[in-house]
Amino acid sequence: MLSAILAFLHHAAAFVLFGALMAELVLTKSELSLTSARSLLRMDAAYGISAMLLLVVGFARVFHTEKGAAYYFGSAPFLIKLSLFAIAGLLSIKPTREFLSWRKILREQRAPAFDEAKRSAIRRHIHIQLTLMLGIMLCAALMARGIGFVG
Ligand code: HEM
Repeated sequence: MLSAILAFLHHAAAFVLFGALMAELVLTKSELSLTSARSLLRMDAAYGISAMLLLVVGFARVFHTEKGAAYYFGSAPFLIKLSLFAIAGLLSIKPTREFLSWRKILREQRAPAFDEAKRSAIRRHIHIQLTLMLGIMLCAALMARGIGFVG
């Protein structure tokens, strides 16, 4: 039962994370308004919370499910998946810092300035993260089926 609950939480968090990133991509496409800037802050919070949940639940699955930790730490796709997840986390720092810097101006009921250079840099970071998610999902499918053991 625990394994089913952890699997459910893992999938739910992954869907929320993917959805939040997609929403950020759409919201950064056109001119920022007060509403879209606020939504970006909320989407980024959802992204952060779901990433933390994925990490905690992911490790809970590694240590508390039938296969055992040795299975995962001997799996190349698992190690690649963790590395891609870490890279995605690093790439999320720039957008998050930008969105958080808007809080004061949003409290004053004004839309933040978001010039073209900033916008395209932020969108590039989000695009790369979305691409990494595909790699993570491929690794998840491989590791769950015991493909690609090392040693
Ligand atoms: C964006 C990040 C992540 C996504 C999209 C993701 C996605 C998935 C998916 C789709 C599965 C099901 C695979 C299948 O049964 O075919 C899975 C399983 C799993 N994931 Fe993740 N995952 C992510 C992050 C993590 C992290 C950070 C960890 C570990 C710290 C982790 C550990 C696991 C484990 C242990 C399983 C169970 C595999 C099995 O059934 O043997 N995941 N993940």
